[in-house]
Amino acid sequence: MELLITAISLLCLSLRPVAASVPGLFEALNLYGASDFAAALQASPGLLDAAISGQFGTVFAPIDSSFSDSSQYPSRVPLNPKEEQIGWYHDTIAPLSWGNYTDPPDPLVVGTIDSKANLGGRNQSIVVNVTRTASSNTSSLRAHRAGLPLLLDRYGQPQLQWTSYAEISTGLGDVVHVVNPNLEFAKCGSTNGVLHIVDKYFTVPQLLSDTAAQIPELSIFTELLNTSCSCLKVTLDNRASITAFIPTNEAFAAAGITSSTKGAEELVQGLVIPNFLGYTPNLAAQPGPATTMNGSTLKIHKTDNVGPNKEYRQDFYVNDAKVVKPNIILYNGVAHIIDRLPSI
Ligand SMILES: *[C@@H]1O[C@H](CO)[C@@H](O)[C@H](O)[C@H]1NC(C)=O
Ligand SMILES: *[C@@H]1O[C@H](CO)[C@@H](O)[C@H](O)[C@H]1NC(C)=O
Ligand SMILES: *[C@@H]1O[C@H](CO)[C@@H](O)[C@H](O)[C@H]1NC(C)=O
Ligand SMILES: *[C@@H]1O[C@H](CO)[C@@H](O)[C@H](O)[C@H]1NC(C)=O
Ligand SMILES: *[C@@H]1O[C@H](CO)[C@@H](O)[C@H](O)[C@H]1NC(C)=O
Ligand SMILES: *[C@@H]1O[C@H](CO)[C@@H](O)[C@H](O)[C@H]1NC(C)=O
Repeated sequence: MELLITAISLLCLSLRPVAASVPGLFEALNLYGASDFAAALQASPGLLDAAISGQFGTVFAPIDSSFSDSSQYPSRVPLNPKEEQIGWYHDTIAPLSWGNYTDPPDPLVVGTIDSKANLGGRNQSIVVNVTRTASSNTSSLRAHRAGLPLLLDRYGQPQLQWTSYAEISTGLGDVVHVVNPNLEFAKCGSTNGVLHIVDKYFTVPQLLSDTAAQIPELSIFTELLNTSCSCLKVTLDNRASITAFIPTNEAFAAAGITSSTKGAEELVQGLVIPNFLGYTPNLAAQPGPATTMNGSTLKIHKTDNVGPNKEYRQDFYVNDAKVVKPNIILYNGVAHIIDRLPSI
């Protein structure tokens, strides 16, 4: 097996076009300050072979400094299964890059090569939110001061000279920032791969209950799961492809609900939509209301806004509750934190 893999890799290497001003993956990782990640990929035969044989279209590589405070992913041989899973979670098959948008696109749900998820056969996802920052002294404003018409975007804002900026939602609500986007690497196959340098490791998604238990402002939800009939936690954790809306402690308190409130089980089930992966890009795309696990329905809608710093933003609502923290990626779906209990 080992020999066969090596033979395929060598064949692939020899097929790589010689016109290589574009570096190969490992060369690029070293060049752009991600040599620890390169070492980690090389510490797993599976990851190494996938890298060499051109399986990675996009690699999100943590910059070397992200190792200093991280005991979570040491580059040692052999990687344990969790470390190996993190390695797969950082890559996708298709090349993914973005430009400098005047109108940034909606966030993208990106399927990774991490196949250890309970999503009805789908691989685990990340959500990539490409947004924009502008410099205040841009050519379009200068042109306007010089008498040319000021071009406006679809939100009625001046078309400034935007630079794109991307943040990535991963497990436990961790957000990873892209610090050096859209770098190319040559790979086996006809197209080049895309390398994005990120500021830290992706957090591997966990079950709904374990995720909520690690977020302090969700302790009432956690206690409701823990103290209700034990089957509730098991039911929600074992269900594939859920979208959960989790009220903060403040939201529960405002509704007079504590961890010992009777009927909590139905209430919690009424916050979970089964068989639906509602990451923000497709959360509000359903034509009608969504049916929850207690049979009640939730109406989801979004608003497009421009924020105080002319940043583009979308707000999501579940009935009258607002999503205050979107896209907490779960082992079995996705969760959003909301600011009140949706009134029915
Ligand atoms: C985006 O803008 C930055 C900063 O102005 C520039 O360095 C980069 O080349 C631009 N990228 C694209 C794809 O135009
Ligand atoms: C899902 O992951 C598996 C195993 O890592 C990989 O072989 C497969 O190509 C991935 N599928 C997609 C659509 O990325
Ligand atoms: C803005 O740009 C103009 C023209 O390039 C330059 O003369 C001016 O000093 C700039 N102002 C600031 C605050 O950078
Ligand atoms: C609830 O259960 C989780 C595991 O699902 C555990 O980590 C946590 O400590 C428990 N919390 C409370 C308040 O009982
Ligand atoms: C279902 O859940 C919703 C939202 O938590 C709640 O308002 C409603 O009372 C629940 N329905 C039943 C029958 O318990
Ligand atoms: C995308 O990022 C922008 C800027 O940080 C933020 O205002 C917006 O809410 C984010 N959108 C989503 C869906 O996370």
